[in-house]
Amino acid sequence: MTDWSQIEDWDRSYYLHNTQAKDEHQFTAVDRQDGNYIYLSNGTKLLDFQSQLISDSFGHRHHRIYNEIKNAMERYGHVFFGMSHEYRARAAKLIINDIVNSSNPKWAGRVRILASGTEAVENSITIARLFTGKQIILTQAHSFHGLTVGATMLRGYRNNITTDPKENTVRDVPGFPTAGFIPIPPPERFDFDKDFLPSISATEAMIKAVGAENIAGIITEPMFGAGGLANHHEYLKSIFALCKKYNILWIDDEVLCGFGRLGEWFGYKLYDDICPDIMAVGKTINGSSLPAGAVIVNNEISDFIENARWWSGSTWDGHPIICASIVGTLEMMLEENYLDKIKQKGKYLKEKLDMISEKHPSFGSVGGHGLFYAVDLVNKNHQPIISDDRWTSFQGDLSKHPNNIVGQECAKEGVFLGGFVPNTIKVGPPFTIEENEIDKGINAFDKALTVIDKMFC
Ligand SMILES: Cc1ncc(COP(=O)(O)O)c(C=O)c1O
Repeated sequence: MTDWSQIEDWDRSYYLHNTQAKDEHQFTAVDRQDGNYIYLSNGTKLLDFQSQLISDSFGHRHHRIYNEIKNAMERYGHVFFGMSHEYRARAAKLIINDIVNSSNPKWAGRVRILASGTEAVENSITIARLFTGKQIILTQAHSFHGLTVGATMLRGYRNNITTDPKENTVRDVPGFPTAGFIPIPPPERFDFDKDFLPSISATEAMIKAVGAENIAGIITEPMFGAGGLANHHEYLKSIFALCKKYNILWIDDEVLCGFGRLGEWFGYKLYDDICPDIMAVGKTINGSSLPAGAVIVNNEISDFIENARWWSGSTWDGHPIICASIVGTLEMMLEENYLDKIKQKGKYLKEKLDMISEKHPSFGSVGGHGLFYAVDLVNKNHQPIISDDRWTSFQGDLSKHPNNIVGQECAKEGVFLGGFVPNTIKVGPPFTIEENEIDKGINAFDKALTVIDKMFC
């Protein structure tokens, strides 16, 4: 038997905690997880209606993924990136051939498998800079791409590339060791009622001001994950068009949306005839059964890197057990037609959200696709309840923020649900959710919204 008071004491004393100060830290210990449920140490059973961080897309400890991991562990421990192994090749073939290039445009050349979404983003930026020889990356306000800074900026080996291994043609990462990130406006929301997007004009103005000749790439999210914001349908198409017009790489951060979350293999697939140059993925790639991420690059960049000698890598690149978890996940998704399931269940979920939207004055709007919806909560004047909204810097008493109140109220009903920014609830259940479980989640959300109505409307 676990002594939970001892565990709490050690956790409070020695762990370096995320997002909560010592005095406000709530000890919420998970005893075990099974399928779509989390069992807390105090006996509470919670339906995971948010897939943890919109990450655990097949619930917890899915048997198919875990069997693949177990089998791999009978054969492999760790293999460093200088050697190959069965699962790395199988995972790469599945990702490039069977999934990304399974429909037009067949743009993807190669993939490198990493240990987190953040690393996938870091690699994307470095690759864009090395390939173009340019430094600047344009990045959207309100977006989220990870929470690290600077590993390659610490002097030493510095991720440089020898473009012609027979000659002395070393290229440092442009901009090293400075940052070189310039913000562009966030996209208009899905319900913006015009097709002319001011965000795109402002982005174009920024490109002209900075000079396209200095810009390596524009990084965007297909739908904001942390920020919970569904784009206007013209936005990504316009970003793609700008990238083509000015010869800038489009870096598509699909860490949260990729591999089916939005009902298509990737978010960019919601729109016809566009594709990224570089794509960062993670989370659903293996249902977050193990830490994983990957960077996928187009054919031209693949050739550039493969013909060069790029002095790069992490201890964990292409780790056999991570690759096995990816193989198990993606083979299952293909065999069991997961995209169809996501679309079907997503339709049911959206209908239920629309139904409760009519009952609650605090229910401002709902945007999303597949099995990811962002609900924006408003006050009686139909304005964001916490006025900073997505510009929040997480100050003050966060327990009074609607996202946290909804979290507390849903927990009372046995449902795990909440959000990151103050006014936005992120509904992103696992792909393994059943209709009766969607009903349970919606019922809890419905009750929580009654509390929000009373407080703010
Ligand atoms: C869009 C996006 N990019 C990058 C990341 C960072 O990924 P990870 O947490 O796996 O490092 C996240 C994490 O939530 C994300 O949502």
